[in-house]
Amino acid sequence: MPRDATIAVDVLTTLSAERFTCRAYRSDPVPEDIIQGILQIAGKTASWCNVQPWQVVIASGETTERFREALTAQAHADPEGAPDIPFPPGHHGIYKARRQETGYRLYAALGIAREDRERRLSQSLENFRLFGAPHVAIVTVPAEIGPYALADCGSFVGSFLLAARAFGVDTTPQAALAQHSAFIRDFFDIPDTQKVLCGISFGYADRDDPANGFRTSRASSEEIARLV
Ligand SMILES: Cc1cc2nc3c(=O)[nH]c(=O)nc-3n(C[C@H](O)[C@H](O)[C@H](O)COP(=O)(O)O)c2cc1C
Repeated sequence: MPRDATIAVDVLTTLSAERFTCRAYRSDPVPEDIIQGILQIAGKTASWCNVQPWQVVIASGETTERFREALTAQAHADPEGAPDIPFPPGHHGIYKARRQETGYRLYAALGIAREDRERRLSQSLENFRLFGAPHVAIVTVPAEIGPYALADCGSFVGSFLLAARAFGVDTTPQAALAQHSAFIRDFFDIPDTQKVLCGISFGYADRDDPANGFRTSRASSEEIARLV
């Protein structure tokens, strides 16, 4: 029997609208069967010739606490770090404007003035505290496959975020963690053949925290697509 498309569209519309990048968590852990459910859905992601290049290490409990502490110490000891996958050299034009708007909204929600470099720095260091999340997934990609594996892994990250929301779980995709790629490989015993793409901190949002009190905007369909 053909299923009702409107139900599927409603569900996906709701999940896409509800998902946001969470920057303050409660400490309650996500049950393991829910983590497995998220992985099962994210694992359905399409990839080039179905090679499924993504690998994830997921930390919970005491491991997350040890990682949070060690990563924060590492970020203080080596603020620059060295990502496996080069960070963007800079953003210009519309990309710069979008990036700035996102930053302004975050700092406005937190009441941080533009010139207050100290509080901006301490907010950005929250990345390494995983924003207090009880879990983090480290997403890696095999170096040998090349750039299209990054596209596959990016899709996996997107599926993970939406699947988590379906289970009522909030998420934070974090390239900031990849700044300390070698440290992360060492901490989690990940082989050198894997490159760190990003982390996804996850758990349940503290909805009263001002860091979660804003939403980002999006370009219209006309701005991103040409129907010819
Ligand atoms: C691959 C990737 C890396 C990201 N890295 C970070 C990060 O290091 N720190 C952070 O606070 N947000 C990070 N974000 C979240 C983005 O800033 C966020 O997705 C964007 O501003 C849109 O907002 P929304 O997710 O709330 O819709 C990242 C997102 C993606 C997809």
